[in-house]
Amino acid sequence: LIEQRSWTPQYHFYKPNHWINDPNGLFFLNGTYHLFFQLNPDDVVWGNMHWGHATSDDLINWQHQPIALYAEPEGLGYIFSGGAIVDKNNTSGFAKNGETPIVATFTQQSKDETQVQSIAYSLDEGKSFTVYDQNPVIPNPGLKDFRDPKVTWYEKGQFWIKTVVAGQCIHIYKSNDLKTWHKLSEFGHKIGAHGGVWECPDLFPLICSDTDTERWVLIISINPGGPNGGSATQYFIGDFDGEKFVSQDEQIRWLDYGTDCYAGITWDNTPNIKHSRTYIAWMSNWQYANNTPDNTWRGAMTLLRTMYLKKAEQSYYLLTPSAVKLPQDTVRLQYCLSKEQPISVPEAYSLECDISLTQGNIALVWKNDCNEQFRLEIDADTQSVTADRTKAGFTDKGFDSVIKMPLSKHECTNLQLEIFVDECSIELFFNNGAHCITALVFPKQAFSQLHIDQSSKKESLENLKITKYTK
Ligand code: FRU
Repeated sequence: LIEQRSWTPQYHFYKPNHWINDPNGLFFLNGTYHLFFQLNPDDVVWGNMHWGHATSDDLINWQHQPIALYAEPEGLGYIFSGGAIVDKNNTSGFAKNGETPIVATFTQQSKDETQVQSIAYSLDEGKSFTVYDQNPVIPNPGLKDFRDPKVTWYEKGQFWIKTVVAGQCIHIYKSNDLKTWHKLSEFGHKIGAHGGVWECPDLFPLICSDTDTERWVLIISINPGGPNGGSATQYFIGDFDGEKFVSQDEQIRWLDYGTDCYAGITWDNTPNIKHSRTYIAWMSNWQYANNTPDNTWRGAMTLLRTMYLKKAEQSYYLLTPSAVKLPQDTVRLQYCLSKEQPISVPEAYSLECDISLTQGNIALVWKNDCNEQFRLEIDADTQSVTADRTKAGFTDKGFDSVIKMPLSKHECTNLQLEIFVDECSIELFFNNGAHCITALVFPKQAFSQLHIDQSSKKESLENLKITKYTK
């Protein structure tokens, strides 16, 4: 008999005994990363949304903090997703004694499901928030889906801009004081993926260090309509002229091809924010989020990722490698590879290796003693990656999908892989985050063996290193 596992993550953020979804209100101040998130304080399924709060100084260990924003069932309702900014110049006027206000922007959804945009402020570095007494700051313009406000400072024009999703496009607003908002424009009609509703936008400038050029990045979650089913995250790169955002081209770009990287946004006020942003996402998918077997808690976050802008021939794209390295004082194992011998692997670790394939395929297959497996295959002939969890344990509600991702011929011959394995998740970063796949897995037993299957005789997987995670 196999004991029921709890799949409790060792180095990913989750909240014991609770349901969580989207990251919210991310800001960095005085050495501390603040993570707020969609929280149901009473259950392990979605509902009764509050903003939970946690803080970290090292990106791995999180301290749980008291609830930041409470649902108002008889008032404006549930507290849905949104962002927060550090109002260094007190443009909001909320500070009366020289404090630096943190202003949180979020959606409130009332009993009749009307969604409006509201704000709250903190004068004690996010410890406590006061809900603005003149909410909402943006009323509902007659739309069913109108939510997830995210604010960025527009340096050139010296004003704030806010993006809000409206069905399958975004509305862009401007403000001088974060209280009064004027609509500037819309973006998303006839461009991008439209298999579902758009959610959780994030629009911000980023400088490409290689070319010293500034571009604007727009992250948009979409549900359903992801490349491998259900929820996923697309992004656009383009320009913002103080009024409109225009995409550089019409290509659809996915931030992560996996099934479990959703509703992610970036931190405000992090060091070096002009050249890189720090991102985190909810590691689940609305297709099955309420039904996964982690039923003593539900919902974890991805690792933090760093976002850089890169230039290809004509257009720009994003690199999103992990911002987290597992502590280096832990065991670092180097392997001599042999085809016959599987490698025994710990429960939580990161793995690096280099792959060079000109033809055929190579697979990394994780196995346990329950006949379960998770198979990652890189195929130079079809120029693709598949991540197969159809035999990896839990398979309900579309969880038995095979994840597919295209790769170029050149990338197959020169692939550097970084993989983070935790109790119920695998995050794959290819070539410094040029491509990513995040997938949940719920095997009955941890995968303790790793097999390397190679179709060609030529050695094509090298430099395998494993860093075991220990608390
Ligand atoms: C995205 C989302 C948001 C909404 C929140 C509600 O996962 O649907 O659009 O604000 O979750 O919890």
